[in-house]
Amino acid sequence: QTAWTGVNERTFVAVKPDGVQRRLVGLILNRFEQKGFKLVGLKLMQASEGLLKDHYIELREKPFYEHLIRYMSSGPVVAMVWQGFNVVKMARKMLGETNPADSLPGTIRGDFCVDVSRNVVHGSDSIQSARREILLWFRQDELICWDESAEPWIYE
Ligand code: PPS
Repeated sequence: QTAWTGVNERTFVAVKPDGVQRRLVGLILNRFEQKGFKLVGLKLMQASEGLLKDHYIELREKPFYEHLIRYMSSGPVVAMVWQGFNVVKMARKMLGETNPADSLPGTIRGDFCVDVSRNVVHGSDSIQSARREILLWFRQDELICWDESAEPWIYE
């Protein structure tokens, strides 16, 4: 199996229930595709409470934790894995800041939401979290292994 580094770096992105209900899925997919990243996994799913509690385990002491789990269980989410050079960091930039009030126009949160507890998308905050989250949300056979050497218009 190829290492998840360099042009094969991967990150986990999820369109949250508000993003799905507001028909923003296509637009979000489009931004990542236009940027030059490659889709390696994609599914629409109702996340179980167990999965969400695992996903947000580091936030379990936060005052908004219960709210966050309820919000994330309130409808289907679109889970995806994107691949490309520096994708973890660049995906976070494309999403904008956690609080939409701090997100610049041009970012997804800067353009499409106003409330931190309805902030449309999630993106892994580090390479280590990306690995953990991808393994949590996807089975190995749900992820595609692309040969990135075949992308001369994206990478020199
Ligand atoms: S913190 O406080 O620094 O840990 O927060 P942060 O790492 O920026 O955000 C972690 C996730 O918690 C969500 N969040 C909130 N949800 C509801 N209400 C409030 N006030 C709130 N603050 C933060 C935030 O959207 C992050 O979710 P993800 O899915 O990772 O984007």
